[in-house]
Amino acid sequence: METITRALALEHAIYGEVFDQIERILTRTASLAEVKLMATLVEGLLKGHAETETNLAYVALDHTLADRGTVDLLHQDHHEIDAHFERIQRTTDPAEAGRLLQKALGATRKHFRREENLIFPVLEKTLAPETLLALGQQWRETHSAPVPG
Ligand SMILES: [Fe+2]
Ligand SMILES: [Fe+2]
Repeated sequence: METITRALALEHAIYGEVFDQIERILTRTASLAEVKLMATLVEGLLKGHAETETNLAYVALDHTLADRGTVDLLHQDHHEIDAHFERIQRTTDPAEAGRLLQKALGATRKHFRREENLIFPVLEKTLAPETLLALGQQWRETHSAPVPG
């Protein structure tokens, strides 16, 4: 069984591979519609992930009033990343959209590293091991594909 922080770090790794593929596509000419479609896809993936992190941070905060600054940092990063993706949807210039998407992916990668180095260790220290495992189990249940009947 995985802990929730391990599950989130695995998601980071998988998203990182998706980002590699997108960056490869961006090195050749991509149309405005293509760039926006890729941005929408990444935004959708990150939304559920960020919700899990936010809920987890709230759980941790309920337990102890530990490291408030760490939680603020998490929220601040999430808002900044959202703003990057919103900018892509507003532009009408394909080259600018591509540059903005590259920037958004870079900022997201940086955020992943920050979480793995600073935020997840705090959550692992704050939450009991059985809570980390129970949340990991919850994550597994919400991410399992339904078995066809
Ligand atoms: Fe995050
Ligand atoms: Fe994350």
